[in-house]
Amino acid sequence: MFLSIRKYPDPILKIKAEKVKNIDGSVRELIRQMKETMIANDGAGLAAPQVGVAKQIIVVNTKKGPRAFINPEVIEPGKKKKKNQEGCLSFPGLWLKIVRPETVKIKAVDEEGKETVIEAKDVPALIFQHEIDHINGIEFIRRASLIEKIKAQRELARLRRDYGTGRKAY
Ligand code: CO
Repeated sequence: MFLSIRKYPDPILKIKAEKVKNIDGSVRELIRQMKETMIANDGAGLAAPQVGVAKQIIVVNTKKGPRAFINPEVIEPGKKKKKNQEGCLSFPGLWLKIVRPETVKIKAVDEEGKETVIEAKDVPALIFQHEIDHINGIEFIRRASLIEKIKAQRELARLRRDYGTGRKAY
């Protein structure tokens, strides 16, 4: 079953998600459905708040296939920065140029409950940073420069019209 993706201006996208304490059956089932949903939507990554669950879980489409990372955090951002075009399944149609560290070291718990450290660079590094931002309630627009934010206003207004009805954005 595919999960429906929460779109801007859904307030869940601004909430800091809770740490996962036990990887129980419901967490494993959520991970399975998040992977399917990411693939079905051609996403490079997906965070649990995007499917309405405020838990610190992300899935990333890696070279080895979709993998889940639980309670992930950036422990060492590289010094060198790189500008890339980013999109987000919660902001359909919006593309922003965003500057982020080109390399990152990430600490997370894998699906078997083992603590792991991942080093990522280039596109995978930005995907990890984007998804980890989601579990901290940081939408990618907040990482954009002022000029990019100004350029995005029309698209954001369109998204608020399409997805904002009945929900109060804050
Ligand atoms: Co996103």
